[in-house]
Amino acid sequence: MALTKSSVIEVLKGVIYFAKGDNIVDLGMLDELTVSEDTIKFRLVFPKLGEPSVNIVTNSATKALREAFGETVKIEITPIAEKEKGRGPLAGVKHIIAVASGKGGVGKSTVAANLAIALSRSGSKVGLVDADIYGPSVPIMFGTEKEQPGVFEKEGKPVIVPIEKFGIKLLSIGYFVDTDKPLIWRGPMATSALNQLLSDADWGVLDFLVIDLPPGTGDIQLTLAQSYSVNGAIIVTTPQKVAFADVIRAANMFKQEKLTIPLLGLIENMAYFTPSDMPEKKYMIFGKGHGEEFAKKLDIPLLGQIPIDEKIASSGDSGNPIALDENSLIAQAFDKVAAALKAKFN
Ligand SMILES: Nc1ncnc2c1ncn2[C@@H]1O[C@H](COP(=O)(O)OP(=O)(O)OP(=O)(O)O)[C@@H](O)[C@H]1O
Ligand SMILES: [Mg+2]
Repeated sequence: MALTKSSVIEVLKGVIYFAKGDNIVDLGMLDELTVSEDTIKFRLVFPKLGEPSVNIVTNSATKALREAFGETVKIEITPIAEKEKGRGPLAGVKHIIAVASGKGGVGKSTVAANLAIALSRSGSKVGLVDADIYGPSVPIMFGTEKEQPGVFEKEGKPVIVPIEKFGIKLLSIGYFVDTDKPLIWRGPMATSALNQLLSDADWGVLDFLVIDLPPGTGDIQLTLAQSYSVNGAIIVTTPQKVAFADVIRAANMFKQEKLTIPLLGLIENMAYFTPSDMPEKKYMIFGKGHGEEFAKKLDIPLLGQIPIDEKIASSGDSGNPIALDENSLIAQAFDKVAAALKAKFN
């Protein structure tokens, strides 16, 4: 059997927790499952530890996985008690959403920042992680370049305190990595920096943690997909066909069976142009209907179409993302995306 998240779940459905009379998957005991090339790792949540059933269930899960995937696969199962479940750094985070695209400059960071603001306006608790090692943008977009996240020590380990702005918790690789350093030096640091931003930070309780990814399908995307339970990815594109070729590549990466991050939908950025003195006009500069066509080809919903607006660029530079102005057309476009996203998780 091919080693994928879904095949692991299928196998674990055959493992029964007799104390409750059902299988461990349907009982919701499976937690933080990650599957990589040669390792299956997850936690099993029990009402309490120290009972014989903990070993029995853990051993039968190991045995079932060995039978299905062979003797060489590494299996790391950590039994935990229900009350410990809430202790992991991301345990309070309900949904992790990645904003991705195969192509640079299509507006991932703009979408991630403004979506975070729209979600927050709708009443959700929101965090935003800027995982773009090659060009961090959150500090500039939120006007927090001069701030440094606090660090405190907990049980002998440093814990990072996200910066808060407009009610959103923020962390960026840009706060930790010297972006004047050459790329070749920054690359290897990228994944460990991402792990720090996610695992060593005090995110507290959040409804959504939005992750602004760098362009492409590199190490950062892989680490995220393999080591964290990402609830879904939003793909950003512009209407041009050349952009779409890269979008397909990125979408396929998330769709790969091994990674299985659900694709939540497509956002067509720079979909049309509306002059500010003629708000009823829509100029389809790059042609009409490409967003719909692309979404259909990927077989995912079109979550939103964001117009071109010169205020987006200036607001991004000024540290006040445009969605803060709730009457703007752009804010309304992002409010719709936020509502569509929330509907998926309710
Ligand atoms: N709808 C829009 N209207 C006008 N300008 C936009 C729009 N979306 C993005 N921009 C501008 O385009 C530039 C690139 O956007 P952004 O940084 O969000 O893209 P990105 O995909 O994150 O890029 P990178 O691949 O470098 O991370 C920015 O200057 C941004 O202000
Ligand atoms: Mg970006």
